[in-house]
Amino acid sequence: MTAWPYPYWIAHRGAGKLAPENTLAAFRLGASYGYRMFECDAKLSADGTVFLLHDATLERTTNGSGLGGQRTWSELSQLDAGSWHTPQYAGEPPCSLAALARFCLAGGFALNIEIKPTPGLERETGAEVARQAAQLWSGAAVPPLLSSFKPEALAGARASAPHLPRALLLDAWSDGWLQTAVSLGCCAIVAHHRLYDAPSVAKIGAAQMRCLSYTVNEAAHVQALQALGIDGIITDRLDLFAPALRGAPGGPPTHA
Ligand code: G3P
Ligand code: MG
Repeated sequence: MTAWPYPYWIAHRGAGKLAPENTLAAFRLGASYGYRMFECDAKLSADGTVFLLHDATLERTTNGSGLGGQRTWSELSQLDAGSWHTPQYAGEPPCSLAALARFCLAGGFALNIEIKPTPGLERETGAEVARQAAQLWSGAAVPPLLSSFKPEALAGARASAPHLPRALLLDAWSDGWLQTAVSLGCCAIVAHHRLYDAPSVAKIGAAQMRCLSYTVNEAAHVQALQALGIDGIITDRLDLFAPALRGAPGGPPTHA
């Protein structure tokens, strides 16, 4: 990927902690803060629907229990994914990738789909997320960026939709990380913000990849990353960082 089509600021899980993560209510709120790109966590239901859930289990963010991936979409869509957050979101349902695609395409928003497989289903989740994403975004000007901590998931994604851009997520500079990203045809590394320094940024750039960073919630960390020339920031702090100020003096650089 030569021209980078994604905005600099990316709202984590829709609206960080300001709304129930990975629900449409969160993406709507994120958009109201001026964000033009979102990150979400996607996995497979028992009957093959791609839906949004960060954890493997349902307890933390819904009124359900057990592994999310063992429920059908019809069961999942009946759950309350909002009450855990605040009463105002009671009844907010889990979100399918199809619904989020409609929202993003209608509003002109870009999306980073983090493939978050139910443990043991890495490759098939990557393959199916990519297959459905390719269908949902078919003909779109800006494709979704697929990312994962799991190389097997990215391998599955490449096998089923090689044209969709991929990024390797890293929480440490694990052995062979650069070679893994290169061999998976990744266009970006998405690393924990504390990992970056000038040598790592240079190494990624020399491999023709972009550097993105998660989850950056403090102004001092944003400044340090900008000084290093990072290409994108995933944040929870929609209330602190305003994408509308892109390019303003002292603000982040202007991107597409
Ligand atoms: O995709 C960036 C970030 O979301 C990765 O960590 O645990 O918040 O999904 P996590
Ligand atoms: Mg995530």
